[in-house]
Amino acid sequence: MAKGFYISKTLGVVGIVVGAGAVATIIALSVVYAEEKSKNTVEGGPVTTTVKPSPTDPTIPNTPAPPNNPWNRYRLPDSLMPVTYEVTLWPRLEPDGQGMYIFTGNSTVIFKCLKETDLILIHSNKLNLTRFNDAQAVLHMVDSSTAPTIKTTWLEEPTQYLVVQLNGKLTAGKSYGLYTEFTGELADDLGGFYRSEYTEDGDKKVVATTQMQPTDARKAFPCFDEPAMKAVFKIKLIHPSNTVALSNGKDIGSVDFIVNNTQFNRTTFEPTEIMSTYLLAFIVSEFGFIEAMEDDVLIRIWARKKAIDAGEGDYALNKTGPILKFFENYYNSTYPLSKSDQIALPDFNAGAMENWGLITYRETALLYDPKMSSNGNKERIATIIAHELAHMWFGNLVTLNWWNDLWLNEGFASYVEYLGADHAEPEWGLKDLIVLNDMHRVFAIDALASSHPLSSKEEEINKPEQISELFDAISYSKGASVLRMLSEFLTEEVFVKGLHSYLEEFKFKNTVYTDLWKHLQMAVDETKTPLPESVLEIMNRWVLQMGFPVVMINTATGALSQQHFLLDPNSTVDRPSDYFYEWFVPIKWMKTGVAQEQYWLMKKSDTNMDMAVTGADWVLANLNVTGYYRVNYDQANWNRLLDQLNRDHLVIPAVNRAQLVDDAFNLARADEISTILALSTTKYLSSERDYMPWESALDNLGYFTLMFDRTEVYGPMQDYLRSKVGPLFEYFKQMTSNWTEVPTGHTDQYNQVNAIRMACSTGVAGCEDLTRGWFREWMQDPNNNMINANLRTTVYCSAIAAGGVAEWDFGWEMFRNATMASEAEKLRSALACTKEPWLLNRYLEYTLDPNKIRKQDATSTIVYIGNNVVGQPLAWDFVRARWEYIFTQYGGGSFSFSNLINGVTKRFSTDFELKQLEQFKADNAEGGFGSGTLAVDQAIERTKANIKWLAANQKLVKEWFQNEIDPKNIIRK
Ligand SMILES: *[C@@H]1O[C@H](CO)[C@@H](O)[C@H](O)[C@H]1NC(C)=O
Ligand SMILES: *[C@@H]1O[C@H](CO)[C@@H](O)[C@H](O)[C@H]1NC(C)=O
Ligand SMILES: *[C@@H]1O[C@H](CO)[C@@H](O)[C@H](O)[C@H]1NC(C)=O
Ligand SMILES: [Zn+2]
Repeated sequence: MAKGFYISKTLGVVGIVVGAGAVATIIALSVVYAEEKSKNTVEGGPVTTTVKPSPTDPTIPNTPAPPNNPWNRYRLPDSLMPVTYEVTLWPRLEPDGQGMYIFTGNSTVIFKCLKETDLILIHSNKLNLTRFNDAQAVLHMVDSSTAPTIKTTWLEEPTQYLVVQLNGKLTAGKSYGLYTEFTGELADDLGGFYRSEYTEDGDKKVVATTQMQPTDARKAFPCFDEPAMKAVFKIKLIHPSNTVALSNGKDIGSVDFIVNNTQFNRTTFEPTEIMSTYLLAFIVSEFGFIEAMEDDVLIRIWARKKAIDAGEGDYALNKTGPILKFFENYYNSTYPLSKSDQIALPDFNAGAMENWGLITYRETALLYDPKMSSNGNKERIATIIAHELAHMWFGNLVTLNWWNDLWLNEGFASYVEYLGADHAEPEWGLKDLIVLNDMHRVFAIDALASSHPLSSKEEEINKPEQISELFDAISYSKGASVLRMLSEFLTEEVFVKGLHSYLEEFKFKNTVYTDLWKHLQMAVDETKTPLPESVLEIMNRWVLQMGFPVVMINTATGALSQQHFLLDPNSTVDRPSDYFYEWFVPIKWMKTGVAQEQYWLMKKSDTNMDMAVTGADWVLANLNVTGYYRVNYDQANWNRLLDQLNRDHLVIPAVNRAQLVDDAFNLARADEISTILALSTTKYLSSERDYMPWESALDNLGYFTLMFDRTEVYGPMQDYLRSKVGPLFEYFKQMTSNWTEVPTGHTDQYNQVNAIRMACSTGVAGCEDLTRGWFREWMQDPNNNMINANLRTTVYCSAIAAGGVAEWDFGWEMFRNATMASEAEKLRSALACTKEPWLLNRYLEYTLDPNKIRKQDATSTIVYIGNNVVGQPLAWDFVRARWEYIFTQYGGGSFSFSNLINGVTKRFSTDFELKQLEQFKADNAEGGFGSGTLAVDQAIERTKANIKWLAANQKLVKEWFQNEIDPKNIIRK
């Protein structure tokens, strides 16, 4: 899956830098993860609590004995192995008499008995199974002999099984067939077989679609729903003749028939390759498509007909072929299937899903319109397509055995998505952006005491909730960063060599992550690549233990040391792993602008005399930021680096300038360097034009904005930022001939947005007039929006913030009429920018009405409002007042719910707010906070930390800003 979570690059000019919100969510998630893990180490948690103490166990009085029947365990026994399934499904696109949407179906699974048993366990969740002779299944043998008769069947809800007990035993080596017929609800719950809706020409259209990963295939039909239970699937879909049916394989025939005066088709698909259940997909829709051939592979892009007719699928179609070709070369392995369908769905929970041969996307992740989509939208499409196509081999052809190794699957795709997209858009310079988008993002979480290692033990991951929790930033972004480091120190040539032999050996099979290390080691040995240790030993340090090191370099002596970097140095690390050693750190570095030979730090401390420098020379480590670690230096080296930045920053690569800022701010948060030193890394920004350092600085200053935007520090801080961003604003004004052209560079386009956003929010002369003017022109001619797509989010937000009800209502109307999801998304975030409390309150009310704000967008809208300094207390009041409704609607879905709690509390930094939060927790203690339980505790913890940080820093930060903008000082420079 691609990250479900996406916040537009520029949320608003009203003064909030977005990164903080995402980070807060992720922080909460990792806490949830760690705590959940420690709570539920026993299999079958909830089951055990309902069982009476066993009288036969006198040694443990009053202790309930956990039932330990096979059906109480979350993992399937190893007695049966599926071979093929024949599945027919019939989704109803009209509600039944009770207003419910349903699907019916039947399925025969042929499985082989590996070990003699009188029990069949097969996953089945929320399905009503038809009874035959009082059993919910029919068993037969594949040869003509007779199978044992069924004693009894039942549905075991906690573990989601259909349990079939037999009167006799199944024989090892024999094959059997199990037939079931079932009815399920085609709900709008975004999981399993579900429905999505949209309107076209005033008509409501219903799409039946699927999201199986990780454990919802069992909601569509009874199946052995574990990734290692690979089988061949023969799928048939029944659907109205005016619709089209899609599945993983090609459509190989269709018959039609009439029921109740309606003509239906039964479409048969070619049998799939041997594959896992979580990669299945079935879709019935009235969508249109466009197609192309790449060698022998049929490529199609599917979407709402209007979107296809408007050309919104063209970009995806044009890029898919080249990206597929790229991965064929990279893996040195032909694409395993005969077709590649990609489809954009109006309702979709994640970003995208790599179903084999039929990839599903959010509309914003696949559809592009040159006039309405920003370059950020475009980049997201290119990288998500690359991510999903990468999975067609890595994940789909070769699949990890169990979900505990999810990090390898998702980390790998999250790394190579940059390579695939870079191939499709070579001008963009995408490869370095992984540092901002993944590494910096995950550093923030992995620096907490509550982080967790990449690798989990197989026996710790059992329940669906535990599996879902693994889809976090550690798996995706740390996984990507660590694999990139590995590929860099092995060299890409060696990396892909090992990758190729891994795919060859395990195709259509399952692996554990060390199988990849084994093949990389073979490539290392063959090419005689020098390494200080084996691939396994080096990677164990990064995979089995949580966190990452900060490397301290003393350039006076050449002494190096490393230690676990913790954002709060006083936190106690209650490590989920007993494995803890020094990291093996590959250090690429430069001396005064000249790259040096790579050095490996293999111990807690060491000396490298080459790093002892004198005079004006400086050392910069982690060149191109290929290593997953932070770097600290002696004060003299920091000073020389700052001098270099102020004198001629271009000597240092842009990605390292971004790193210097990010390292400095985080080292300051951890009390390892002073806040003043961190702030000093932003002084040279008046001459910085590059996107990455700016983005890094704005991200880090975002925390300052959150803490200070209601205090006396805010004025001087705004003055300082204005003095830094003013030259950037002028630079882009000239580059774009007074804002009439678009910068050619991809990251220049991003930085132009930063320039306008920051200039408007800090009051640079002319900025607000500019954005309001553009918006007014649009209001006068609503059918003719001339605002450049890249700037829209920022312009809308700025104009709505500066305007009143007229601007807001216009924005709302445009949101309602938007035909493109990414345009609607821009407006939805901008509407949260108004400074009128009553408009914000009204907007908050709209989030309770799914006809106004789609269910999938409700919590993020509240968070957008909470990001606004005026909206923050309103959103907090709203969440408290509507707690019951919000809790019942979203309490189960962990991601959006903890995001919500964090979103409305992240600015909290006073004793009063802390009291409110504690009161809120106490008031709702009885009902609980569902998946947001730990987010509430985390919010309390964070509020306390903020209070502490403010007390320690407020005065000196204010003085520093004041001093920096003092006219005397400015003249003196
Ligand atoms: C499964 O259902 C379809 C459609 O109702 C039907 O045509 C088919 O015969 C059924 N399969 C079996 C094995 O009964
Ligand atoms: C399944 O059965 C239950 C109990 O009879 C019923 O309430 C529910 O509506 C049924 N679901 C479907 C999809 O038919
Ligand atoms: C056909 O119509 C009847 C009566 O409305 C209904 O009971 C039956 O379920 C319908 N059949 C199908 C397959 O929809
Ligand atoms: Zn993925």
